[in-house]
Amino acid sequence: MIVLGIESSCDETAASVVVDGREVRSSIVASQYDLHEEFGGVVPEIASRAHEQHMLPVLRDAIDRAGIQHSDIDLIAIGHRPGLIGSLLVGLSAAKALAWSLGVPLVGVDHVHAHLYAGMLGREEPEYPALGLVVSGGHTSLYSMPDALRVQRLGSTIDDAIGEAFDKVASILGLGHPGGPAIDRLAREDGADERAFDFPVSRLKKDSLDFSYSGLKTAVLYEAKGRPAPPALPGRDPLPAPEVPPLTQERMRDIAASFQRAAVRALVLKLGRAIDRVEGCRTLIVGGGVSANTLVRSEMARFAEDHDLVLIIPRMEYCVDNAAMIAGLGARLYENGQADDLTLSAIPTTAC
Ligand code: KG4
Ligand code: ZN
Repeated sequence: MIVLGIESSCDETAASVVVDGREVRSSIVASQYDLHEEFGGVVPEIASRAHEQHMLPVLRDAIDRAGIQHSDIDLIAIGHRPGLIGSLLVGLSAAKALAWSLGVPLVGVDHVHAHLYAGMLGREEPEYPALGLVVSGGHTSLYSMPDALRVQRLGSTIDDAIGEAFDKVASILGLGHPGGPAIDRLAREDGADERAFDFPVSRLKKDSLDFSYSGLKTAVLYEAKGRPAPPALPGRDPLPAPEVPPLTQERMRDIAASFQRAAVRALVLKLGRAIDRVEGCRTLIVGGGVSANTLVRSEMARFAEDHDLVLIIPRMEYCVDNAAMIAGLGARLYENGQADDLTLSAIPTTAC
């Protein structure tokens, strides 16, 4: 079965042709980083306008590079939730128009669930039950997965997502957007000391499987820019804010490495708690933009080895947003009996 997948939930316009849910024939991603950089984050209105401009060239490119004709397409898979509503609507309208004009079925795919499918592209089906972890710009969530198509949430972030924390720390350090890859690079520089600063690793309540990254982000802010001045006592002059050392390259890389260590330790801590909730767990499935991070990859490999699990983690190009994961999961959902029609809606929240 030849599936054309479409993804436009945030700031990447993507299309991909995947055969039988696993073999990627083409995967085209048009990013918009340069358009949002000066604002330090994604601007929804700019994103949806850029999707409109990129959508047709990206679709054409995906079909051409796969070496197929429109008439070869058996199914259209669309990431229709969660995401920015205007951005989702651009992809969804293109998907509906194609499905209608080609007379082929349409299937709606949850983007977060698709991140968990990204690691299956180009490989054999792993064994279940599995423990799932999505680490992206919008989500940090743990799942119990009885099989590839069923995801039951065990916990998620109560404030910032891990990718958001990477992006905010990068912005504090004056690095570009998205900041995750820049922090990753800085933390790998020679001499970077991940123990230079003892940043907090959030644990929350004893058995909690939720995450919190706002405290860590604030600790980094204070270390880099200084703490606010203490409030003045009645009748006294205000005290000056404590001085901070200049943000040299050396300090920046120590802050980046120490932040990254604390952020990833929180993931490992919660995986350790979650593993007992998935009886007979065989596999650890990780996905989302932050699964491209060097330390995340090595720590996930170590966790899997320590717990006798097979690790499924996407190849680098399928960590960040792409349409191959949408097409792949779409094929599986369709085979399992899911089919949508032209009333399919764009929904800002995830189903899982
Ligand atoms: O999955 P994704 O492309 O979009 C969402 O669904 O949110 O994830 C994007 C996030 C951004 O926050 C970006 O900074 C982060 O993934 N990211 C990384 C790395 N590459 C991308 N974070 C840390 N290290 C990386 N190497
Ligand atoms: Zn994503």
